Amino acid sequence: MSFKESVKHFQTLVTSFHPVVVIDTVEEERVQGLIGAACKDMQMSVFEWSIAQGLMRSPDSPDNRWQNEYSPPGSKRGQALPKTSEPLDMLRHIQDLNVKAIYWLKDFAPHLKDSVVARQFREVTEQFSHHRSTLVISGSGNDLPAEIAHDAVHFDIKLPEPEELYNALSGVVRDLKGRVTVDLTPEDIRALVSALQGMTLSQTRKVVSYAALQDGRLDAEDVKQVLERKARVIHEEGLLDYFPPETNLAELGGFGGLKRWLSYAKVGFTPQARQYNLPAPKGILIVGIQGCGKSLAAKTIARQWNLPLLKLDAGRLYDKYVGESDKNFRRAVTMAETMAPCILWMDEIEKSMGQTSGEADGGLSRRLFGYFLTWLQEKSQEIFVVATANDLSAIPPELLRKGRFDEIFFVDLPEADERRDILTIHLSRRRQGLDAFDLDQLVAATEGYSGAEIEQAVITAHYHALYENCPADTPLLLAEIKRTVPLSVTRREDIQRLRAMARERFVAAR
Ligand SMILES: Nc1ncnc2c1ncn2[C@@H]1O[C@H](COP(=O)(O)OP(=O)(O)OP(=O)(O)O)[C@@H](O)[C@H]1O
Ligand SMILES: [Mg+2]
Repeated sequence: MSFKESVKHFQTLVTSFHPVVVIDTVEEERVQGLIGAACKDMQMSVFEWSIAQGLMRSPDSPDNRWQNEYSPPGSKRGQALPKTSEPLDMLRHIQDLNVKAIYWLKDFAPHLKDSVVARQFREVTEQFSHHRSTLVISGSGNDLPAEIAHDAVHFDIKLPEPEELYNALSGVVRDLKGRVTVDLTPEDIRALVSALQGMTLSQTRKVVSYAALQDGRLDAEDVKQVLERKARVIHEEGLLDYFPPETNLAELGGFGGLKRWLSYAKVGFTPQARQYNLPAPKGILIVGIQGCGKSLAAKTIARQWNLPLLKLDAGRLYDKYVGESDKNFRRAVTMAETMAPCILWMDEIEKSMGQTSGEADGGLSRRLFGYFLTWLQEKSQEIFVVATANDLSAIPPELLRKGRFDEIFFVDLPEADERRDILTIHLSRRRQGLDAFDLDQLVAATEGYSGAEIEQAVITAHYHALYENCPADTPLLLAEIKRTVPLSVTRREDIQRLRAMARERFVAAR
C-alpha cells in the first residue's frame, strides 16, 4: 500500500465511524505525517496528547492559528490546554470539548489498565461513534482491555516508500552540507535508496549520517555499508535475518532438477510474463534428508537470481506473549513486502507452521498457518518463498496440496556425480588443487554420505594435516571418511520412510 493509499484507508476508517484506531509503532513522525495528510484533506481538527505535554491542538491541524506562512521559524508550536496531562483529566476535557476531531494519544495503552480511565475512555468513544471523531492510540505493544479492544481497529503503518526514503536522504545531505563531500550519480542514489528499503526514516537518517561522517564522504562505497547496517538493524528487530546479494557466495553442488526449474521459472518475473497475464512464481518447498543442502539451496536461489534473501526465524516468531506471534508474523511479511523483489526463506517450516504444537499453544500455530496460507495465495508482491522441511509428517497436508507452492522438491542423498561436485566445491574452498586427489576413489568412498558429512570430512582432514604438518591428501581424506558413520546408517529407517513418502509425490531436486 502506498502512502496515498494508507491516507485514504485511514480517512475511510474515520468517516465510517471508527472511534478508536490503534497504530503499532514508535515512529511518531510517520503517524504525524499520516494524520496530518488525512486531516488536511478532510479539513478536520487534530489534537495530540502525551503525558509530558498534555493536550494541545496539533501544529498540523488545518485550523491551527499558530500555523501560517508569517509565523517565524520555531513558533509552529501549540500550547497545551491547562490541566490536561493526567489521562483522566484529558479524557474529560475531550468529552466536554465536543469538537469533531482526531485526537492522537501517544503511548496511551498502558493508562487503560486503570479502571476509571478505561471507563472514561469508553464514554468518550461512545460519544464519538455518533459524530465521526476518532481517538488514535500509538506506541508499541498496545494491549487493550477486552471491552475497549472490541471497538478498536488496528492500522498497520507501512515502512517508508522509496520516495520517502529519498526525501530523508536529501534531508541528511542538506544538513551535512559543508561537512562532507557528496559524490553520488543518479545511479548511486537509486542503489542507496534501494539499500535503505526496509528501514524506518529515523534509522535511515542515522545510517546515512554515520556512513557520510565516518570518512567525510557520501559516495557509491557507502551503499555496501548501508546494506551491512541494514542487515544488523533487521536482525535486531528480531524476526528476520537479511543476506544481501552482494555478500552471498553460496555454492551448491548437484541439485540439477532444482537448478533447471529455477532457470526456467525466472521468466515468470519478466515484463513479458505480465503481458501474458502470467503470475510471478510464488515459491517452492524443499523437503529432504538432513544435511543434504536444503538451507544452502535457499541461499543459492537468492544468489542465482541476484535477490536479497530474508530468513524468517521460526523460533523467534513465537514471542513469549501469546497473541504477539500473529503480529510478529505480519511484521515480518510487511518487511519482506517493502524489500520486494526478494526471497523469503522459511527454514524448517514444520517448526513454525507445524501441526504438533497446534493444541498446546491454544491454536496459535494453526491461526498463524491460516494467515500464512491466505498470504501465500493472495500476495501480489514479488516475494518468492523458499520453505524447507525435514519432517514431512509434521507438515499440515493443506500445505502440500497442488497449487500452494509452485513445486515441491525432494532432496535425497547425493549420487556419484553430485558427490564429485560437492567434493570439488569444498576442496577448492580450502585452496586445494584438485589434481592432487583421486576423486574417483573419494566419490566411491562417500556413497551414503550427505553433503554436510562430506564437508565435515574435508574440514577434519585439513585440521589433521595442519596439525601433523603433512599435506591433506587422498589417504588422509579416506581415513576421515571411514571414521564417520553417516546418518544414512544410523537413521536408516527414518530415511527410508521419508524416501518412500516423498519419492512418489514430489519432484526430485537432484
Ligand atoms: N549439495 C551441496 N553442495 C555443496 N555443499 C553442500 C551440499 N549439501 C550440503 N552441503 C554442505 O553441508 C552444509 C549443510 O547443508 P545444509 O545446511 O544446507 O543442509 P540442510 O539440508 O539444510 O540440513 P538440515 O536439515 O540439517 O537443516 C552446507 O553448509 C554445505 O557446506
Ligand atoms: Mg537446513
